[in-house]
Amino acid sequence: MFTKLARDYGDIVGIRVVNFRNIFVNHPDLIEEVLVANARKYFKGRVLRANKHVFGEGLLTSEGDFWLRQRRLAQPAFHRARVTSYASTMVEYTERLLETWQHGEECDAHQRMMQLTLQIVAKTLFDADVARDTQDVGKSLELLLELGANFRRTLFVPHWVPTPTNLRIKREIAFIEGILYRIISERRASGRDTGDLLSMLLHAQDEDGSRMTDKQLRDETITLFLAGHETTASTLSWTWWLLGQNPRVEAKLHAELDAVLGGGPPSFDDLAKLPYTANVITESLRLYPAAWGLARIVVEDHEIAGYPVRKGMGVAMAQWVVHRDPRWYKSPEEFLPERWEGDFLKTIPRFAYFPFGGGPRQCIGNSFAQMEAALILATIAQKFRLRLVPNHPVVPLASITLRPRHGVRVVLESRHGSSAEIRPPADQAMTAD
Ligand code: HEM
Repeated sequence: MFTKLARDYGDIVGIRVVNFRNIFVNHPDLIEEVLVANARKYFKGRVLRANKHVFGEGLLTSEGDFWLRQRRLAQPAFHRARVTSYASTMVEYTERLLETWQHGEECDAHQRMMQLTLQIVAKTLFDADVARDTQDVGKSLELLLELGANFRRTLFVPHWVPTPTNLRIKREIAFIEGILYRIISERRASGRDTGDLLSMLLHAQDEDGSRMTDKQLRDETITLFLAGHETTASTLSWTWWLLGQNPRVEAKLHAELDAVLGGGPPSFDDLAKLPYTANVITESLRLYPAAWGLARIVVEDHEIAGYPVRKGMGVAMAQWVVHRDPRWYKSPEEFLPERWEGDFLKTIPRFAYFPFGGGPRQCIGNSFAQMEAALILATIAQKFRLRLVPNHPVVPLASITLRPRHGVRVVLESRHGSSAEIRPPADQAMTAD
């Protein structure tokens, strides 16, 4: 729908959805006006606000001075030095997963990536003592995401109405909260600084000396747990799907990994020597941006490109559409990591590529996610090729994030140490709509 609106009506479009008046903005410069120049004139969109019973006043959903204070408190946990210290955990967990992989085994790559990124976020957020809870939390989070992504229900049925779905959501939230509050109180009692994100948040102090309450910590940790694993997992799942269809790119990736790493595990320092690997992730985030669209509500009247924008109106922007706009990208539907070589980024408008949003509400986990995706890709692709299972439908589902509706079914093929090479049938036709 967004693609068609942009094609038929251009860079700024007014649409009414039931009673809501919305503006869809489709030009990078106008998107910059919304996210950067006029950022204070907006709140987050209706779907995120309707999910506040899940995220509370966490970073993703809070507003105004409260959000700014929390962002300042949380920011040190995402400083470069902290984030790079997680690199070895990311590689170690990926290698541990690979130990369980069998040559010739068929599986859903998306499930595997979800399991892996959840373990990584749990380890880097809470440290190892919660490993046993990770799987249960993962299942609950997945269910919450699935239920929260039903836009019609989320927008039109208030969360306090005791429908069976709302009761289910309540139960899942209570379950996750039980675990989070237990972890928070154990950590407070021990007074340990284990160097993970939770320690950073617990010890973070505002200018006035105040620290976060348990409720604030609950809201931030549930937000980071959710925002921090599904997005990266989906990015990797789309990457496997794209690599599976583009043997030329896959071969070039393997060549770079073999030349730089020579079979060993990647470290943070190696990433600077793996530009093609980084470009594979950048290009994958262009074509399949895990955050496929952003939404805002206007809280102060103003104008965009001369059009009046009134309080209460919705404003939407879609990475999915802008990232595939032929004005900025040649052969926009093609997976071409090479396009990012040299200074290509400087030749396109700032908001022609914005997988992590922009302005003050830009993704706080941006560097974390890019490093994690590159390290996981490098670690796995050194050892395994993921062959797409022919005729399995890989269908993008535009829920809160963009994920493959039926997963990405693959056959795991060891790149070394197996005599039996598995070749896909010549007519390997994949479907995507
Ligand atoms: C490929 C992976 C990721 C993508 C594509 C992504 C994308 C985004 C986008 C587009 C936003 C802005 C939303 C808006 O403006 O409405 C955002 C915000 C956010 N992301 Fe990410 N994200 C990713 C990974 C992560 C990770 C790994 C974490 C944490 C560990 C994280 C935590 C957050 C938080 C807390 C916010 C809210 C920031 C604020 O408003 O202050 N994200 N993300």
